[in-house]
Amino acid sequence: MSQYWSKVVHALTPYVPGEQPKMNDMIKLNTNENPYPPSPKALAAIQQAATEDLRLYPDPNADQLKQAIADYYQVAAQQVFVGNSSDEVLAHTFLALLKHAQPILFPDITYSFYPVYCGLYEIAARTVPLREDFSIDVDDYLVPNGGIIFPNPNAPTGRLLALAEIERLLAATPDSVVVVDEAYVDFGGLSAIALVNTYANLLVIQTLSKSRSLAGLRVGFAIGHPDLIIALERVKNSFNSYPLDRLAIAGATAAFADVDYFDKTCAAVIATRTALVASLAQLGFDVVPSSANFVLIRHPQHDAAHLQAYLRSKAIIVRHFSQARIAQYLRVTIGTDDQCRQLVLALSDFLKAGK
Ligand SMILES: Cc1ncc(COP(=O)(O)O)c(C=O)c1O
Repeated sequence: MSQYWSKVVHALTPYVPGEQPKMNDMIKLNTNENPYPPSPKALAAIQQAATEDLRLYPDPNADQLKQAIADYYQVAAQQVFVGNSSDEVLAHTFLALLKHAQPILFPDITYSFYPVYCGLYEIAARTVPLREDFSIDVDDYLVPNGGIIFPNPNAPTGRLLALAEIERLLAATPDSVVVVDEAYVDFGGLSAIALVNTYANLLVIQTLSKSRSLAGLRVGFAIGHPDLIIALERVKNSFNSYPLDRLAIAGATAAFADVDYFDKTCAAVIATRTALVASLAQLGFDVVPSSANFVLIRHPQHDAAHLQAYLRSKAIIVRHFSQARIAQYLRVTIGTDDQCRQLVLALSDFLKAGK
């Protein structure tokens, strides 16, 4: 605490990211990174961009990347916004589109950055309880509100809301912006981008951190009606004119062009998830149905924090949230087949030893 802090800073409760351990020999299944490297074409493009041109500012509009994203999703470039990670795109969205007189709505169990942005921008929010099985009931959102946001698949549950349900929500709440955070959609969901030309109140946000293995490059984007995009550009140009550097623009553009690699690595993660879920069920774990690159699991006989500590002692890191409804669950990122095999072995040893 300091006398020099502003009132807002005194009141902040900042987001706490998952641990990034300094040792390399851990099996890191705690922050939903992709176990596969980025596309070799993306790495080559980043290397090619590392020239003396770095003395020059990048394109403030990142037009090349916007066009690549627009081409990939068959939308117009004016429907695309890009930012320094989807966290930044989300932050701009809260300020540009979700700060109104009424409270915004999001699930009680969801991405824990949402309440942080509400604190930062002094936005009133109301959480909407998920059903007992952690699914979203769209009817709960059909009340007066200042906007709606949820991830699909949700995090940290992994549960997917059907596109038809999202469409029902969009049609029923034309006066509210509905933000669908699709950080994990490529691992088994259908993107709501298919609906942006029909619903002017829909904003879809995605990231290259998960399905395109580029968490270290920090690139995210939003797709929606041009009027929503203009609002985001107004905030961006009041904050940082050059959020994406030259390397990020080059790498992200190349990653979008390498469709084969993207399809192959997403399919590999999904196949590993299917195998892991079967093994965990065999060990007696309850597994929440997941369409993401992680699974939320619990063992009916074992305390989650205790299990997490045991795994850590075996150099395997998973994420535990102390929030009431999920305090007995662990969130496990899908690793390589080998990493997941080692996880299952460690858990099986734990259960055999009756620890
Ligand atoms: C639901 C959700 N949205 C957004 C993000 C942010 O991703 P990034 O800032 O790396 O683009 C995450 C990261 O874990 C997430 O879980």
